[in-house]
Amino acid sequence: MVRRLWVVLGLAACWALTVAAPGAAQIPDTFTNLKVLPKDIKKNELVSIMRGFSFALNVRCIHCHKGDDPADLSTVDFASDERENKRIARTMMDMTTGINATLQTEIGAVRPKHLEVTCFTCHHGNRRPETLEHALVTELDAQGVDSTVVLYRRLRGEFYGGAAYDFGEWSLISIAENLSRDPKKLDAALALLNENLVHHDQSAGTYARIAETHLARGDTTSAMASFEKALALAPEDPWLKRRVERLKTKK
Ligand code: HEC
Ligand code: HEC
Repeated sequence: MVRRLWVVLGLAACWALTVAAPGAAQIPDTFTNLKVLPKDIKKNELVSIMRGFSFALNVRCIHCHKGDDPADLSTVDFASDERENKRIARTMMDMTTGINATLQTEIGAVRPKHLEVTCFTCHHGNRRPETLEHALVTELDAQGVDSTVVLYRRLRGEFYGGAAYDFGEWSLISIAENLSRDPKKLDAALALLNENLVHHDQSAGTYARIAETHLARGDTTSAMASFEKALALAPEDPWLKRRVERLKTKK
């Protein structure tokens, strides 16, 4: 939350610098290196597109533009192509235009008011589009389960309430389910499910998934105990009732 606030303020400051009289001077009035945007684009249009990029990626201008001080734009060399992010951003602009052209051709006729794809559609306020699953599984493979839980907490602290990641009840459940297809990752799945209980302590789905993971490890006793907890939270759930019934008669 703090970070988001900072970003909004940062953007506001950026905007003020560009529009308010003294700050406007910090951004050149003419542009010398436009390869995608129209060369005669008006300054206020260009600046509002650039603000859109910054917002969609949750970054400052110097993420893409050569410069060291995000607060003093007069030191920024906007025309320079030195930063790789600027070059990537150009291909992203072409790609986004291409996606929208395809959308227009394919569904424009039947749904003229279809959604236009923007940088935000994919980036969701993140410099790199990311799903929670991709972030956590990458961390798990590289650093192990403890630092994966630490990463989850850091991302949650930083991005909760924004659109970048889904911290709802079912995210870690489905990630754990995918992990548990690999017998070597059952412990990691359990650790993430226990982490889920820290944030969603009334989650029957989490207890049910914990039970399935115990079963996969051959621990029927722990599995039944977790199924009972799930049932206590969701006594009317037909799937749960049947699952527990079947396990009981099997014994
Ligand atoms: C995600 C990357 C990205 C961010 C963030 C970004 N820009 Fe840009 N900017 C670009 C790209 C790419 C171009 C070149 C577009 C083209 O070739 O048509 C550009 C061009 C410009 C230019 C024209 C430079 C010239 O002379 O050709 C200015 C001025 C500019 N940006 C200002 C800003 C400001 C101010 C901010 C912060 C509010 C900002 N940009 C944030 C990617 C970015
Ligand atoms: C269709 C989805 C999509 C759209 C739309 C999109 N991007 Fe991206 N962008 C990606 C993906 C995927 C990556 C690569 C992420 C990774 O490296 O893991 C990426 C990477 C980037 C990077 C490099 C980030 C880094 O740190 O390496 C920049 C800069 C960028 N995008 C800018 C933009 C801008 C500006 C727009 C809008 C004009 C845009 N993107 C629109 C999907 C998208």
